[in-house]
This record gives sequence, structure tokens and C-alpha cells, in this order.
Amino acid sequence: MLRYVLLLVACLLPSSAEGQNVIGEVDEGGHCLCKVVLPDGTFPMHRMEALEFTAQSLNVTVQQEITKMQSYQATFSLYLQRLRNLTRRVEVMEMGGVSYSELDFELLKLEIREMESLVVQLKASMNGSSVTVETLYAEIRNISVMVSQLETYDKNNVLAVRREIVALRKRLQDCEKNRETVHPTPPSYGSCSHGGLVNVSKPFVVQLNWKGFSSKYGGWGKDSFIGSTKKDMYWVAPLNPDARMMESFRRYQSYDDLLLYKNPTDRALSRLLYGNTYDYSSCGQGSGMIAFNSSLLYNCYNSRDLCKWNMDTNTVERKTLNNAVFNNRFSYAGVTYQDIDIAADEEGVWALFSSEASAGNMIIAKLNSSLMVENTWTTSQYKPGLTNAFMICGVLYVTRPVNTRREEIFYTYDTNTGQEGQVSIMMDKMMETVQSLSYNANDHKLYMYNDGYQVTYDCMFSR
Ligand SMILES: *[C@@H]1O[C@H](CO)[C@@H](O)[C@H](O)[C@H]1NC(C)=O
Ligand SMILES: *[C@@H]1O[C@H](CO)[C@@H](O)[C@H](O)[C@H]1NC(C)=O
Ligand SMILES: *[C@@H]1O[C@H](CO)[C@@H](O)[C@H](O)[C@H]1NC(C)=O
Ligand SMILES: *[C@@H]1O[C@H](CO)[C@@H](O)[C@H](O)[C@H]1NC(C)=O
Ligand SMILES: *[C@@H]1O[C@H](CO)[C@@H](O)[C@H](O)[C@H]1NC(C)=O
Ligand SMILES: *[C@@H]1O[C@H](CO)[C@@H](O)[C@H](O)[C@H]1NC(C)=O
Ligand SMILES: *[C@@H]1O[C@H](CO)[C@@H](O)[C@H](O)[C@H]1NC(C)=O
Repeated sequence: MLRYVLLLVACLLPSSAEGQNVIGEVDEGGHCLCKVVLPDGTFPMHRMEALEFTAQSLNVTVQQEITKMQSYQATFSLYLQRLRNLTRRVEVMEMGGVSYSELDFELLKLEIREMESLVVQLKASMNGSSVTVETLYAEIRNISVMVSQLETYDKNNVLAVRREIVALRKRLQDCEKNRETVHPTPPSYGSCSHGGLVNVSKPFVVQLNWKGFSSKYGGWGKDSFIGSTKKDMYWVAPLNPDARMMESFRRYQSYDDLLLYKNPTDRALSRLLYGNTYDYSSCGQGSGMIAFNSSLLYNCYNSRDLCKWNMDTNTVERKTLNNAVFNNRFSYAGVTYQDIDIAADEEGVWALFSSEASAGNMIIAKLNSSLMVENTWTTSQYKPGLTNAFMICGVLYVTRPVNTRREEIFYTYDTNTGQEGQVSIMMDKMMETVQSLSYNANDHKLYMYNDGYQVTYDCMFSR
């Protein structure tokens, strides 16, 4: 029995269809038509395809493990150095070589405790990694068994034909790229002279958040303000284990520091009043925070207020977001307490929330620099049915889950025209739940907090 595979090639004729199994021709519309004859139907093509898919996803996992290993190595050598330093100081103190005070001891004890907790964290992440490596090993062994089985089926060089199809497909893709429907190099940062988001890259896992696996809630990113004076700074804000309160956040001055968890600046948002009593009113609620123009913007704890924490002066300003629901009334699907999600793009700062009057449908509010609402738009999307959202050039993009490994950007609302739209842009995800998703106009990246993992995606725009 013969099987035909037709490839419609939009603009490229396969100039050399070497194998006699592949025939190329042009129809009257100028389209190019490839006819590939597969001589035998007994070849288990579906298994071949499954194999290819597995190999690809394994490759991604392997690359990630390699990145992790590299970062562990660097961390280890740093710890080793610090341990040596500590040991040397303890020895000096033991010998009574220099006079020391109680303070020296306290400092030493503090550093030893810090080392301990760092090592525990590292061990936790290492263990996760070795489990992954074992799974990988098992999967790779399975694949090699499948390959040898498949080879025994390949009596008619089906695999060779298949490779030719892949080559053809690759040329078709190159050809489509040359038509430049999609910018390979995007428009300049800050500019909105493009036709909107058309695709996103594969996810890039930067690291696990510094508090470890258990901190599944939070957000992270860079300053989203186009004129930012802190363009190299990264911020990471895991929530407390209650999945509700942001009691502190952390900053790193560079990408290297972020990767090595080195030289962090931690800032507590709670304030000691007396004894063991704290004031939590300037803490955050939910994972909707962003950094903009040297401030952290977030929903203030236990209120419908917006908080703006100035990172230069460590002072907080707050404004009430009228009518916004809060305290887990209309959060996103699968996550708690994100009633108010802050976003920023080329046009400034936005709040995404809902109200009783909107019946839980998402409202977009444009904020000015003193967090006052300039304008609002009500969408047709029920907020608890969405997984997250972000703004680019005044256009709202909304996601929903396809399955545990995939999200779809499926809905848009253009505040420039008041028009709603449908799109279908797939986003692979590493873990199931999206706690936070924000766009940054300074690097055209999406920053995702994915069950404790810090992940980025590159945005691609149409002309
Ligand atoms: C594996 O991934 C790397 C980097 O992403 C890529 O360069 C390489 O071609 C991939 N290999 C296969 C066999 O897909
Ligand atoms: C170890 O001590 C040396 C000198 O005392 C110092 O330069 C270095 O930064 C220290 N290393 C670490 C990792 O603390
Ligand atoms: C590693 O994790 C497994 C389960 O994931 C656990 O059984 C084992 O005790 C862990 N090992 C260490 C050294 O923590
Ligand atoms: C390996 O293959 C066996 C049988 O096909 C399957 O039960 C098992 O789950 C596979 N293991 C992995 C790690 O994919
Ligand atoms: C979108 O990007 C992904 C990842 O680079 C790619 O696999 C996919 O084919 C692209 N989709 C479209 C419609 O261009
Ligand atoms: C950014 O911050 C500076 C300094 O605080 C301020 O003067 C400026 O108005 C801010 N710009 C925006 C757009 O918020
Ligand atoms: C923000 O908007 C409010 C209300 O429209 C206005 O009173 C305030 O001056 C604005 N602030 C800035 C910095 O534009």
C-alpha cells in the first residue's frame, strides 16, 4: 500500500529532489508541491515520531541540567572558599593570637549558621537534580532500545526518506523566514512600531528561587521602566509559605550575582513595633508585583490599596484602587490572593483586577506615576478563569492552561482602540502553575515565576 505525504511549499521549489522518492513540481498558482512516496506502510511511523519528540524534550532537559551543574560548581567553589576563611579565623582565635571580643564570636556564629543554611539549600537543589538525572538516564536507555527495534523494521530505507522530508521542511521554514513576516531582530526597545506579539521562544530556566522548592509563590524580574537607572538589577520576591504575604524582597546587582545567589540585598517590608509585634501593613499580597522606575509596585497586604516601595529611600506610598476586590475574591486560576496584578509596558504602569460590578471580569486600569487611575477598560474575560496576563504597548495579553506543560496566550484587549481579539500563541512551561507573568519593555522578555522556578521567554513581534 502506498502512502502520500503532500507538503505545500509556499514559495520555494526544492531545487534538488535527489531521492527518487521525492518529486517536486509547481502548480499553476506558482505554489510548489512536493510529493513524497513512502513505499511501505508497515513502518511504525507514529513510534518514530514519538521517539523524535522524546529526544527533543530530553535534549532540553539535558541542557538545563548542564546549566544547573555549572551553577552548582561555581557555588561550591565559593562555599569552599568561605569555609576556608572561616576555619582560618577560628584557628587564629583558638590560638589566642589576637585579642577578640564577644562580637567576633557572634559574627562568627552568624556566618557559620548562614553557611549551614546555604549548604542545606544547595543539598535540596542537588537532590532534585540527581533524581532528574536518573530519570533522564532511564529515558535515554529506553530510547536506545526503541531505536534498535525500529531499525529492524526499516527494510525500505523509510528513515532516509524521512530525513529528506525533514530537510525539505527546514528549507521551507528558512524560506518563510526570508519572507520576513516575523522580525528576526525586533524593533528597538521602547518602540511600539510593530504589529503586536506573534510568538514567544522556548522557556529559558534561569534558576530556582533562593528560598528553594518550597517557595512556590512569588515573582521576579528587572526594572520595567524604559528610562530605568537600574537596568542590571534583578529582584526576586518569594512569598511567605502562606502563599499570600510578601514580607520581604531581594535584589542582585548583576546577572552573575543572581545566578550564584551572591551579594544579595534583602529588604523587609514589615516593621517591628515592640516586643514580638510587627506592622505588616506595608507588606505585599499575592504575586502580582513588579519593579518600575526604582520602586517595587504591589497590592498592599489585606487591602485594595496599591503600594509603591521606593528602593532608593525605602519609603512606601499607597493609593486606594477604588472598587477593586481583594483578599482572594477573584484571583487567577490555580493561584491565591492575586486579585490585583500590576503590569508595565512601553506606555507605563497598569493594574489588572476585577470588581463586583464587573462580575469578576478583568478590568484594565492605566495608572499615572502617582498610582492614580487615568482610565479603565472592562474586558469580557472572567478573571478566575485566566492563569495570568501582561501588557505590551497598551495591549493586554491573557493566558489560559492547555495542559500541565503548556499555556496559551488566547485573548487580547487593545486599549488604544478598545478592540478585543483572539490569538493562539503557545508557551511551553516547565512546571504546572504560573504564579506570576510580566513583560519587560527593556529586553522584550516575559518573566515567569513557575512553581518556584524563575523562567524567561523572548517575545517576537510582527511588522
Ligand atoms: C540540543 O539543543 C542544543 C541547544 O539548544 C542544540 O544546539 C542542538 O542542536 C540540540 N540537539 C538536538 C539533537 O536536537
Ligand atoms: C577570604 O578571605 C580573603 C582575605 O582574607 C578575602 O579576600 C576573600 O574575599 C575571602 N573570601 C570569601 C569567599 O569570603
Ligand atoms: C532525595 O530525595 C528522595 C526523594 O525525592 C529522598 O527519598 C531522599 O532521602 C533524598 N536524599 C537526600 C540526601 O536528601
Ligand atoms: C521505559 O519503557 C517502559 C516500557 O516501555 C515504560 O514502562 C517505562 O515507563 C519507560 N521509562 C521511562 C523512564 O520512560
Ligand atoms: C513559535 O516559537 C516556537 C519556539 O521557538 C516554535 O517552535 C514555533 O514553531 C513557533 N510558532 C510559530 C507559529 O511560528
Ligand atoms: C521616575 O523616577 C524619577 C525619580 O524619582 C521621577 O522624577 C520620574 O518622574 C519617574 N518617572 C516615571 C515615569 O514614573
Ligand atoms: C495623576 O492623576 C491624578 C488624577 O487625575 C492627578 O491629580 C495627579 O496630578 C496625577 N499625577 C501625575 C504625577 O501625573
